[in-house]
Amino acid sequence: MPSTRTKVEVKGLEARHYDRLMDILTLGKYEGMIKQIIGDMGIRSGDAIVDLGSGTGRNDCMMLEHAGPEGRILGFDIGEEMMAQAVERCKDYPNVSFVFQRIEEPWNIQGEFDKAFMSFVLHGFENYDKEKIMDNVYQALRPGGEFFVLDYNEFDLGAQFFLFRWIFKKAECPLASEFVAMDLKKMLSQHGFVDFDTKTYVGGYVRLLRARKP
Ligand SMILES: C[S@@+](CC[C@H](N)C(=O)[O-])C[C@H]1O[C@@H](n2cnc3c(N)ncnc32)[C@H](O)[C@@H]1O
Repeated sequence: MPSTRTKVEVKGLEARHYDRLMDILTLGKYEGMIKQIIGDMGIRSGDAIVDLGSGTGRNDCMMLEHAGPEGRILGFDIGEEMMAQAVERCKDYPNVSFVFQRIEEPWNIQGEFDKAFMSFVLHGFENYDKEKIMDNVYQALRPGGEFFVLDYNEFDLGAQFFLFRWIFKKAECPLASEFVAMDLKKMLSQHGFVDFDTKTYVGGYVRLLRARKP
């Protein structure tokens, strides 16, 4: 059952114009930023990658540029309007596929993937669902596989300028305010992940956190 405190289930006008909206909100910088971040993931030719909350598929096309024709991308999403754009965008790539799957429900995938990627999705889940997602990812990764969480970094929201706080709370769900205050590495390590690495962007407010399955 989805939380009433989330905004990550994108629908309607926002879903139909999601990419354009991101470009406008970041003054045209979004695509370049994501390209750089995906470059920082160290994707190798032939990698199998599962994308949790794959949205419009923009990130999946970029990941495939690194994974190449031997690679494989599987996107999970539940948004029909988002998924339709992803399917259309990736229609020429037989090694990219999308499935309607709630990421917090069991996937029944064991040790198939080299990498899991989750971009601006995890902050919108209650902690008990974050834990289910981490268990699903852990099972789906091969030993040595990597989980990449691209999302808000940890920061003290209360210490930010009034205007920043106001915009963040208006634009984001209550769960996002809790997310920036939580110790995500601790939760990941309680679910078996090790060997964390952090890269930050956008003045430190956005983080690519890598965790490895031993
Ligand atoms: C903020 S968008 C991010 C999309 C994409 N990851 C990106 O960075 O462009 C959140 C996405 O997560 C999907 N989503 C939300 N809740 C989900 C769930 N429980 N299971 C699968 N997908 C979900 C939404 O449909 C939407 O496409």
